[in-house]
Amino acid sequence: MTGHKLIEWQDDLSVGIDEIDSQHKTLVDIVNELHQAVAERRGKEVMQEILDRLDEYTRIHFATEESLMRIFHYPAYETHKETHDQLIDQLRHIRKDFEEGHGGVTFELMQVLKNWLVKHIQHSDKEYTPYFMQGKLSSNEAPKSWFERLWPWGARKESRETTE
Ligand SMILES: [Fe+2]
Ligand SMILES: [Fe+2]
Repeated sequence: MTGHKLIEWQDDLSVGIDEIDSQHKTLVDIVNELHQAVAERRGKEVMQEILDRLDEYTRIHFATEESLMRIFHYPAYETHKETHDQLIDQLRHIRKDFEEGHGGVTFELMQVLKNWLVKHIQHSDKEYTPYFMQGKLSSNEAPKSWFERLWPWGARKESRETTE
C-alpha cells in the first residue's frame, strides 16, 4: 500500500450539493484506485475491472447531472453535455486500447484523468449550483424529496417506505 493518493478530496471540490458531492467522491475514489493499481502494476483483469467501473459510474454521474440540468433549464446544458460526451468517448478509447493491448494505463494518462475531473468539477460543475438551488427552492418541496424524485437510484432505501 502506498499512502499517496492521486486526488485528495478537498473542500474546493465541493459543489455545495451533498448528493452530487458524494457522487464526485466516488469518482475520485475510483480514479485513485486505478492510479494505485497502476503503481502496483496490477494485472490486466484487475485494471479492466476498475476501468469498467470507472466508465459505468461516470455514465451514471453524468446522467444525474444532465437530468438535473434539463429539469432546471440550465442555460449551459449543451456545452456541459458536450464535455461529458468527450470524456465518455475518451474513456471508451482508453478501454478499447487497453483491451486490445495497444496501450497501457500510464501515470501520464492518470494525470490527464485527474486534471479533467478536478477542472471539470471546479469550473463547469460549480456553475450549475445556483441554478439547481434556485430551482429546488421554487419547487416548494423539502430538499430530501426533491432529490429523491430526481435521483431514484440514490435514494432507494428511503423511498421503499411508500406502499403500493
Ligand atoms: Fe459535469
Ligand atoms: Fe460532475
